[in-house]
Amino acid sequence: MSLLEVRGLEVAFENEEGDDLVVVDGVDLSLKPGQTLGLVGESGCGKSVSALSLLRLLPQPTGKILNGSILWKGNDLLTMSTDEIRSIRGKEIGMIFQEPMNALNPAHTIGRQVDEVFLTHQGLDREQARVHTLNMLQKVGIPEPSIRANEYPHQLSGGMRQRIVIAIALACEPDLIIADEPTTALDVTIQAQVLQLMSELQEQSGASLLLITHDLGVVAQTCDEVAVMYAGRIVEQAPMRRLFEFPQHAYTKGLLASIPSLTGPVQTELPVIQGMIPALADLNSGCRFASRSPHFHEQEWLEVRAPFVEVEENHWVEDCPACGRLNN
Ligand SMILES: Nc1ncnc2c1ncn2[C@@H]1O[C@H](COP(=O)(O)OP(=O)(O)O)[C@@H](O)[C@H]1O
Ligand SMILES: [Mg+2]
Repeated sequence: MSLLEVRGLEVAFENEEGDDLVVVDGVDLSLKPGQTLGLVGESGCGKSVSALSLLRLLPQPTGKILNGSILWKGNDLLTMSTDEIRSIRGKEIGMIFQEPMNALNPAHTIGRQVDEVFLTHQGLDREQARVHTLNMLQKVGIPEPSIRANEYPHQLSGGMRQRIVIAIALACEPDLIIADEPTTALDVTIQAQVLQLMSELQEQSGASLLLITHDLGVVAQTCDEVAVMYAGRIVEQAPMRRLFEFPQHAYTKGLLASIPSLTGPVQTELPVIQGMIPALADLNSGCRFASRSPHFHEQEWLEVRAPFVEVEENHWVEDCPACGRLNN
C-alpha cells in the first residue's frame, strides 16, 4: 500500500490580470513506506510548488490547486480541514527546506526550538522535552549538545544549522520526510555529510523520504526511485539504477550527460542542455522539451501530450515520438 499517492496534481498561480498560470500540470507520484523517492529537475520546473502543495502550504492567495488528489494513508489531504492538516504537518510529515536560516527562529535558542516539537506533539513537560532534545542533537551530530542547545541559530555554521532543521523534522518520528534541496545552500564537503546523515536517520526510523533536488549526483547517493520533472510534468520515473543505466527521455539523457564522471576522461567543460525551460506563457500542450531537444518534432507532437508508458517494470516515460523511448 502507498503511504502517499498523488494523482493528476495541477497547480496554478493567479497573475495580476487574474489568469491562472499552470505550473504543475498533471503530476502523479507515489511513495511506499520506507521508500526514498528523488524528484529531480532544473530550477523552475515545479518541484517546490509540488512539495508545498502536498502540505497545503502554497503562497496565498495566488497559489491554487486546480485538480487532482493527494492521498495520505488513503485520505485526501485536499479535502481535510485546516486542523486536520496541521496535525499531520510536522507530526506525520516532517519538512526540511533549502535555507536553514528561514526554518529557524533567530530569536530563540536552538534547544528551545527542538523542545517545542516535543512539547506540542508529544505532550512532554519542559524537563522531559529537553532530555529528548539533547538526545536528538546528539543523533544529528551536534557536538556538546548541552552547550549548543543554549546557542542561537546565528552562532552555528550553515551545516550545523541544517542539522538542527533535520533534528526538528525528525523529532516526531514522522512517516514521511519531505526535503526540498536540503543541501543546496551548504558547502560541497558539508553537503555529503548532511546527506549521509539524513539517509542514515531515515533508514533507522523507517520513514519514507521525498528528496527534491536539481542534482542527479545527490539522487544517486540516496534514492531508490527517481522522478524526473520538466516544465511542470514528470517526464520519466524509474528505479534509481535503471534511470542511470537505461534512461529513456531525451531530457533525462541531457541531465545525465551533464554530471561529471569520476571514471571517464577529465572534461574541462561539462555538456549542458542548451537553452532554458520555456516561459510559462509559451508552454506546449504536447512535448515541452521540444525547444531544447536534439530531435525533430512534428507539429502534432507539440500539440498532443504523449502518453506515460511503462517501458519495463516500474519504469515510465512520457513517450513523445521524438524525445521518448524511440530515440535510443
Ligand atoms: N509565489 C509564486 N508566484 C508565482 N509564480 C510562482 C511562485 N512560486 C513559484 N512560481 C513559479 O512556479 C514555477 C515552479 O517553481 P518552483 O516549484 O519553485 O520550481 P523549482 O522548485 O523546481 O525550482 C516557476 O515558473 C516559478 O516561477
Ligand atoms: Mg525549488
